[in-house]
Amino acid sequence: MRPQPPADTPILPADDPAALDRAADILSAGGCVAVPTETVYGLACDAADGEAVAGVYAAKGRPRFNPLIAHVDGRDRAEALVELPPAAMALADACWPGPLTLVAALRDGAAVSELARAGLDTLAVRWPASAALTALVSRLDRPLAAPSANASGAVSPTTAQHVKDSLNGRINLILDGGACRVGVESTIVSFIEPERPVLLRPGGLDRAVIEAVTGPLKQATVSPDAPTSPGQLSSHYAPDAALRLNALTIEPGEAFLAFGPPPTGGQEAVFQLSPSKDLTEAAARLFIGLRELDAGASSIAVAPIPNTGLGEAINDRLRRAAAGR
Ligand code: TXA
Ligand code: MG
Repeated sequence: MRPQPPADTPILPADDPAALDRAADILSAGGCVAVPTETVYGLACDAADGEAVAGVYAAKGRPRFNPLIAHVDGRDRAEALVELPPAAMALADACWPGPLTLVAALRDGAAVSELARAGLDTLAVRWPASAALTALVSRLDRPLAAPSANASGAVSPTTAQHVKDSLNGRINLILDGGACRVGVESTIVSFIEPERPVLLRPGGLDRAVIEAVTGPLKQATVSPDAPTSPGQLSSHYAPDAALRLNALTIEPGEAFLAFGPPPTGGQEAVFQLSPSKDLTEAAARLFIGLRELDAGASSIAVAPIPNTGLGEAINDRLRRAAAGR
């Protein structure tokens, strides 16, 4: 019997062996469990179990054309799923476990359901720096598919409470590992053309770190009709409030997302991403700040953020959050 989500989804500590036992039982039975990773919380299920995967799409309200990342507990398990060209292996060795997802050609017989791949013959794989998620992969001895544990299109969760706010009653269990260290989703690099790796999504791993291994990455071309990575859909990560980017002033009624000292004069709420203008700190606090300001304001002005290092991922999420609303 598939476990039915309880009306009030429990939150248990991710480092408690009894909680991990319970999570493993739920996953083996085809349920879904929110699990902390270093980037954001993921909503994990058995990647090979099409019905379990269908449950994850349903819980999130996620369109079924948007494929999921298969999470693994080592490079060997990744290689059993996809054909990693030498440059991808070198990158994996340099950066895994960590906030990096590789897209490559699917291997025959890979333990990933067609639904998890959205019918594609490619697969996104990631070895996360998450003791809980890798332990569960090892326990089940199979990859776990896990999108971010939020309602589709909404801001990604970086705390267990964010997950509960978004998906309570729709999922079986939440494992609590505290606030996510990186705070933005993984960087996705496609090796479908092995000689020409493409940056599909800037994320928690700085592009410069990747390019030091692979050489220059090709920029994905964004077509709103046929996104290469549906994470490129322009309106995504969207709060309810309207966003005004690169703001040098605070207008009446606006809340302010600050990066360094905010402009004077604002009467409304200010959330400080990083007083010292540290991009790593700002990335870790981005989704917390968007949620906090969104709860109390109908428009949010956002300080300019430099586009270097993790700033590329921060600006990407902010642009999407501001798009088409
Ligand atoms: O940090 C992360 O990546 C988090 C944690 C939980 O691992 N996961 C995450 O998953 O952000 P999700 O589903 O929210 O975003 C995955 C992105 C989507 O934009 C999806 O379109 C893209 O990966 N993707 C998955 N499979 C793909 C494939 N075969 N080709 C291109 N893009 C793919
Ligand atoms: Mg997501």
